[in-house]
This record gives sequence, structure tokens and C-alpha cells, in this order.
Amino acid sequence: MSIDGFFSVNQHNTNNLEDFKYDFNRVNSLKLKNFRSYKDLKCSFNGGPVVLLGPNGSGKTNILEALSLLSPGKGLRGASFDQFRNFKGPSEWGVIAEVASHNQIIKISTGVSAGRLRGRDVKVNDKKVSGYSSLPSLISLSWVTPSMDQIFMESPSSRRKFLDRMCSSFNDNHISSIKNYEKLMRERNRLLQDSFSDKTWLDTLETRMASEGILIGLTRIELVKSLNDILGKDQNPVWPKAFLKIEGDVEEELISNNSDEVKENYSKTLFDNRRKDSLSGRTLEGVHRSDLLVSERNKGVYANQCSTGEQKGLLLGLILSHLDLIAESSNRYPILLLDEVIAHLDQVRRSSLFDQIVRTKAQVFMTGTDVNSFSPIKGSAEFFSVGMGLLKEFQI
Ligand SMILES: Nc1ncnc2c1ncn2[C@@H]1O[C@H](COP(=O)(O)OP(=O)(O)O)[C@@H](O)[C@H]1O
Ligand SMILES: [Mg+2]
Repeated sequence: MSIDGFFSVNQHNTNNLEDFKYDFNRVNSLKLKNFRSYKDLKCSFNGGPVVLLGPNGSGKTNILEALSLLSPGKGLRGASFDQFRNFKGPSEWGVIAEVASHNQIIKISTGVSAGRLRGRDVKVNDKKVSGYSSLPSLISLSWVTPSMDQIFMESPSSRRKFLDRMCSSFNDNHISSIKNYEKLMRERNRLLQDSFSDKTWLDTLETRMASEGILIGLTRIELVKSLNDILGKDQNPVWPKAFLKIEGDVEEELISNNSDEVKENYSKTLFDNRRKDSLSGRTLEGVHRSDLLVSERNKGVYANQCSTGEQKGLLLGLILSHLDLIAESSNRYPILLLDEVIAHLDQVRRSSLFDQIVRTKAQVFMTGTDVNSFSPIKGSAEFFSVGMGLLKEFQI
């Protein structure tokens, strides 16, 4: 089985959606082949909010995870690639989506063919592409999942990934820069273990790391500044308001210095740290160590000192402001995946969230176990019951 051939839409068969004033990112249809608990699923969506209902273990998060693979990386569970295939089926799997983007319909497919153990292929209109460089310009997704409840208590790496995911809808090249940077860093670390054998190549790697690092830092700074502006203007009293700051030498330097100077310092730090880095087996300083610090504006305390409920509110408020920011800065409406979020909100927050969803017209996929939590949005959303490897649409 290949991941091609399940779909009729191709490059020569694209619909033009010029009527759309904005570039809504929308998944019009989804096919899952041998993916997690789904053997062979086909479903389509009308572009509005989608509610997926079913008991625990019925396969709701698996659908959101499949959608999250339309952006680069390991998806919303951060799972290893061998987890995606249906354990009971063959070793290949595929996720195929018909997506509205840039006022066109495109087909994005991802998965692996038989025998492949690492990574996943990504195809756009059946042509193999690099997911890191191609997907961010075509589709932008963000998500809130139950495991993100811990984000403010965890190590900096999960907040950094969260920040970089937000940056990827802001700057299409951000994830590519991160991948380039990480590749250069791995190569430098390897070379440092090799008794500094090739000093000229080390110089080159460090200069290139500094260049990519500066690009990464600049995008992060711009995103954080824009988000802080939006959060500052936001009059909605429902969500606790976050204030963001990046903790990282490079970003802090970039705020008040010329980027060429910072780039030179960056290369110099890498050069000076060669012995230290060689002994520790890793690069000790750089944008790969930065953290996103979040505090609550009114109280002026860090998010990790807030109550669990306040932390959830901060996170959701942040995600919603990000949605507004992307819509405002690029006329683009990212897709939002909200896993088990609605049931945990009080009525005021729930209606505020539904209001925003309906107002922005973003395509939001929400999961839950209780249909009643979603009744305020019944006129605007499509409802599906999930179970037995199927999605069945129903009216409420
Ligand atoms: N690779 C896999 N192959 C087959 N089944 C899987 C795989 N991964 C997870 N599952 C099963 O998928 C089911 C549904 O998971 P999930 O989507 O997380 O449910 P929920 O509706 O609670 O979000 C679980 O019973 C789980 O055992
Ligand atoms: Mg779930």
C-alpha cells in the first residue's frame, strides 16, 4: 500500500475559492489508513467548528493527532514515529487531507511505506516535499491538550517547543531554521568529540549556527512582542492575562543590540566554549537553551506559581491571542485543535471561547465526552460521534 492514490484531487483539479476574503486554513476531508485505532477512515468537514464526541478510548485524540501531523514534527502527542501504525495492521500508515489554503484546494499526505522505520514522508499534491520547509506555508495548526496542563511546571524544552510552534505560523521559515541549526549543532558536537580535528570546518559550522540562531532569536522576539501587545490591549476579563519574556542570552542581547554584533558574539562564544562543550558532549549555550517565561500580568507572578485553573486559563488565553495575532498579521486563520478542553471550563469561559470561535470563523476541532457541554455552539458546529474506527455525523 502506498500513501498515494486514495484521493481524486490533484494539482490539475484545484478549486479556486476566490470568494474567501481571508486565507482560512481548513481541512475539508481526511483519510486515515492504518493509523492508530483507524484501519480505513474517510470523513469530510464543512469548514466550521467540529465537535468529536465519544467515551474514553473511542479514538478522538487519534483524529486530532492525525490532523496535527499536517504540520512538521511528531504531532500533538510528540510520539515516536513507530507508534502511528495500527498495531494490528501492516507496517505502513497514511494520513491524507484535502486542505483549503491560499484560496486553493491542495492534498497533503503523510505516512510511511512498508519497511520504513524512521521518520515520515510528506507529499503535497502527490509530490514528495520536505515537511519542515513546505508545510508551514500551506497550513498552520495549534493545539491545546491535557498534557499541556503541565507546561509551566516542566523543563524549558517543552515551553521552547511551544514558543517555536507559535513562531512557525508567524514565520514560515522558522521551523526550517531550527532544523538547520540543530543539524549544524549535531555536527559540531560530533567534531568536538573528534579532538577538534578539522578547525576550519568547526569555524564554518559555528558561523552558520550563529546566523541561523540569530534568525530564530529574531522571530521569537517579534512573536513575543506582538503577543504581548495583543494581550495588553485585550479587554476580555475572562482569561488571566499572560506576559511573555524569553529567557536566553541571545534573545536578550538581540533586544538592545545590532544583530550583526550579536551574531559575532554568538560565534565567539561557540569558539570560546569548544573545550567546555567537548567535555560535556553538547553545546552549552545558544538559542537551543532558551526558555519562555510566562507571568500573570495582574498579579505579577510567574505562571508556575499560579493555581492549576489559572495556568489553564493563561494557556488558553495565550492560544486565543495567538490565533488573533496570526489572523491580524497575515489574514490567515490557523486551525485549532482543542483536546478535552471544553469540559474543564466554567460556563463563562466556555461561552467566551465559543464566541471567539464563531467570531473568528477559524476551523476548530474540539473533543469531549458530554454533548451538553457543546450545546451553546450547536447552531455553528458539526457534531460527530466517534467509535469503532468510525466517525458518524449527527444533529443535536
Ligand atoms: N498504534 C495503535 N494501534 C491501534 N490502536 C491504538 C494505537 N495507538 C492507540 N490505540 C488505541 O486507540 C484508542 C483510542 O485512543 P484515543 O484517541 O486516545 O481515545 P480518546 O477518545 O480517549 O481520545 C485506545 O484504545 C488505544 O489503545
Ligand atoms: Mg483523548
